[in-house]
Amino acid sequence: MADAALGIVIAVGNQKGGVGKTTNSVNIAAALGQGGYRCLVIDLDPAAGATRHLGVPENSFAGTLELLTTDETIAGLAIFERMPSGVQLIASRPQLSELDALLSKFTDRTRLLDRPIADARRHFDFVFLDTAPFAAATTTVAAYAVADWILLSAFPHPLSLGGLTEAFKDVADVRRHRNPRLEVLGVVFTNVDSRATRLRTELERVVSASLPGRRFETSISQAVLLAELSGRGKTLFQLPRFAEIKIAQQYLRLAAEIEHRVRQRTRFLEGTLPPFGESAVSTPHPPEVPVVTAAPSPILGA
Ligand SMILES: Nc1ncnc2c1ncn2[C@@H]1O[C@H](COP(=O)(O)OP(=O)(O)OP(=O)(O)O)[C@@H](O)[C@H]1O
Ligand SMILES: [Mg+2]
Repeated sequence: MADAALGIVIAVGNQKGGVGKTTNSVNIAAALGQGGYRCLVIDLDPAAGATRHLGVPENSFAGTLELLTTDETIAGLAIFERMPSGVQLIASRPQLSELDALLSKFTDRTRLLDRPIADARRHFDFVFLDTAPFAAATTTVAAYAVADWILLSAFPHPLSLGGLTEAFKDVADVRRHRNPRLEVLGVVFTNVDSRATRLRTELERVVSASLPGRRFETSISQAVLLAELSGRGKTLFQLPRFAEIKIAQQYLRLAAEIEHRVRQRTRFLEGTLPPFGESAVSTPHPPEVPVVTAAPSPILGA
């Protein structure tokens, strides 16, 4: 029998549009998939960015809409063919924008994802909820109401500051009203231009001040390759020699940082987790024996 799934649910947010949410969702899932984890991406955006980025043509599959409006199960809807290793997808399509009209007026919209996510937790180690760029969207609210973590994404641009401040406020509101368990996993700085160090330092300072301990050591550089791959419907990890590509190495390291945090949630939230750079990363589905401290990360390789 397969090992018990970790069942960790991560909403990928920052409701400002075009800040790398989808690119991060699919590439982090694929990086974790490389480490042997079972990952599910649920595309909650009618714009279907994750669906297209994973190479699935819009309107070709049933998916999120059926998951939320019928008794269909995750197993019945998940796409696994031609996906990155270890990754499955619940696809979206533009008709998801009609979700509100299709739901019964007696449905509790904020709890819409509870049943499918309880199902997904039993079968997957990581479930990524790629949200639409609207905080008030039914799917975004339901994602925040059910997730264990929120992973924020930001481009180091002066306008990001406002977006991040708003995102922090949304998280505080969700915790107060809906889901006290929701925690910020971290803020991923992506599309980072190595020359714009002053701006990046300033944004990192804001994150450290608002959310101590929640910035990542790894950031993702600006890379035209990412935009190109999204057009081709591929993640970095479906390229033959991805291990040699700098941006893929960054995503692997970021995935290992995420693994380090979520697998030691209590210590991370207490602030007693050693910095990632000084830690060994555990193996997926660890055996009953203690993990050797110097074990290579399954994600980062030897
Ligand atoms: N590191 C990067 N370097 C260069 N371009 C990037 C990088 N990350 C993302 N992009 C590009 O930026 C654009 C926006 O990214 P993405 O679609 O992931 O953002 P999003 O937050 O999901 O957007 P939306 O809110 O519209 O769903 C895309 O064209 C993507 O290819
Ligand atoms: Mg998106």
